[in-house]
Amino acid sequence: MNSKVIATDSAQADEWKFIAKVSELPKGDIGTAKHPGGRLDLAIYQVDGEIYVTSDRCTHGAASLSDEGELDGYQVECAWHNGRFDVRTGQALTMPCRAPLPYFDVKVVGDDIYINPRPKRFKQL
Ligand code: FES
Repeated sequence: MNSKVIATDSAQADEWKFIAKVSELPKGDIGTAKHPGGRLDLAIYQVDGEIYVTSDRCTHGAASLSDEGELDGYQVECAWHNGRFDVRTGQALTMPCRAPLPYFDVKVVGDDIYINPRPKRFKQL
């Protein structure tokens, strides 16, 4: 696999933290890892060969998106009340979800997935 930078806009090189290996992600399902700070569970999505990372916890309730969510293209649907988010930006797309998911800049080097640990939030323009 070639090294590939997916999103690096504001990240500094020394801010990247390893979270998981691409080869260990569940095929056709949502992966999970701990945030490098240890306080947050992450959901890892693979769509068309690209990796996206958000917080694992639905912003409407306490559902785990990696455990119970369903990936549909670039959207993850929460199993509890069917709210949807865009995995690329964390944007809440359907009710009852209003608050966006925190998401992270991602860098993939070989088989290794790194994130910038500072969460980003979608802002409606
Ligand atoms: S807990 Fe996710 S939509 Fe309600």
